[in-house]
Amino acid sequence: MTENNAFIFPQGMLICPVCASDIEGMHCPKCHSEFFALGNIPCVFTAGIQQKKLWQHQMAMMEAQGGEALANLEYALQGYDLSDLTRARLEQAFESMEQSLDVILAQFSGAGLVAQLDPMYDQTTVDNPTEYYHHILRDWAWDNEPSKYFETHANDANLKRVMNVWADPAPGKMLVLGAGAGRLSWDLHEKLEPEFTIASDINPFLLTCAQDLIKERKAITLPELYTYPQIGYPFSKSWTMQPPEDAGNLRERWFALGSDVWNMPLRENSVDTIVTSWLLDVTGGDVKDLIGVITYLLKPGGRWINTGPLLYSRNMSFDKKYSAEEIFDFAQMAGFDLERQEVDEVEHMVSPLNARYHYEQILSFCAQKSLTPKPLPKPGSTSDWLTPPWLVMHHLPVPNIDFQCERGHEFIAKVLELVDGEKSIYLMAQLLQPDMPEGVSAKDAVTALFGQILEQMARAASN
Ligand SMILES: C[S@@+](CC[C@H](N)C(=O)[O-])C[C@H]1O[C@@H](n2cnc3c(N)ncnc32)[C@H](O)[C@@H]1O
Repeated sequence: MTENNAFIFPQGMLICPVCASDIEGMHCPKCHSEFFALGNIPCVFTAGIQQKKLWQHQMAMMEAQGGEALANLEYALQGYDLSDLTRARLEQAFESMEQSLDVILAQFSGAGLVAQLDPMYDQTTVDNPTEYYHHILRDWAWDNEPSKYFETHANDANLKRVMNVWADPAPGKMLVLGAGAGRLSWDLHEKLEPEFTIASDINPFLLTCAQDLIKERKAITLPELYTYPQIGYPFSKSWTMQPPEDAGNLRERWFALGSDVWNMPLRENSVDTIVTSWLLDVTGGDVKDLIGVITYLLKPGGRWINTGPLLYSRNMSFDKKYSAEEIFDFAQMAGFDLERQEVDEVEHMVSPLNARYHYEQILSFCAQKSLTPKPLPKPGSTSDWLTPPWLVMHHLPVPNIDFQCERGHEFIAKVLELVDGEKSIYLMAQLLQPDMPEGVSAKDAVTALFGQILEQMARAASN
């Protein structure tokens, strides 16, 4: 394990997400990117220290918005026409909101962040880090009360779903992408005892809560508050979440990592298992590209275990709201063999304080990355070439074949010069993007160019 002033992490795993060089401490000696620690959690983003400034800006926004909400409640409490019951409800809400704001800000400041607005984000809408607040309670609090929906409890059901599709688990070095508040990563870690588990996420609040509970063994108290009345349910409750049992000190091999799935600071072919739980549909990116990331990080023969719904966000364009069959097809093109799959329909986010809950369909599967890369299709019948895997899956290498077309246009010449049988559309696009006009995606342009060339070649062959 690498021991730094700030954090301990499995040796040799972290690389610079900008230039892929080894990093030294929190610094890249090659491209001079600077990273930082959130408490004891390494945070390795392409934005470097700017990511910390963004989180500090978000913290300042939360502080201001929370303060405003509390001031509004305080004002309402000054009303002369409040009944005793109304006053009691408002007082309870005030106490709960105040405690919640205090805990959130304490989590941030305990990890070394300082609320500070950054003019860089003045004109932008920044995410609220408490978006997944209830996930922390689902992971670590609600199981303390019996549930009428689960045989034991919700987290146990999640774990069982994963184990049902993962025959003969040999987790080795395990990476959980978008691990959230960390419960599934911990349950798998405790059950399977991998060499190590890395629980990565982009959300500072979830990261610090997971770290405090699992690694630092600190209890966290978080209130839960509903602003709509429900008959027979209290408005609010304060939950004290205890660290999980860990008689065997397994937490020493569990590590939180602040990172972005789209620019992971980990080596190619470096992990044996990747778990994605309730992630595919929420990253805002293209699932095909996420499969590219997973393929890159997994060792040959490694396993990808997924569980979660396909409830893509409203903002995701319809062409990217892929079905389960499309996802399996992409995985197969990327060199995965689907081993097991299961579809369940389950109650989701069932709080003991809430009469309402979600009911969701969940797709779970386990797929193995091939031991050897699949051979590239040979140019034969040109009709096969209209949508070859490398045109659909942008991380696959573009084959070194004779692409027949006029090379008059500078962009066409530049793209075709890059064809070497190794570079993918994704990589070519990264190299070309700096020279593209503003607002034009190099990836879209390169994909369209190859598509047109193949179409022309197919047409010429059929004449
Ligand atoms: C729906 S939650 C699921 C959390 C957890 N895996 C679970 O099963 O409860 C999605 C998680 O993905 C994380 N996430 C979303 N986009 C991400 C990104 N680009 N990089 C890293 N994590 C991301 C969020 O912060 C959040 O914790």
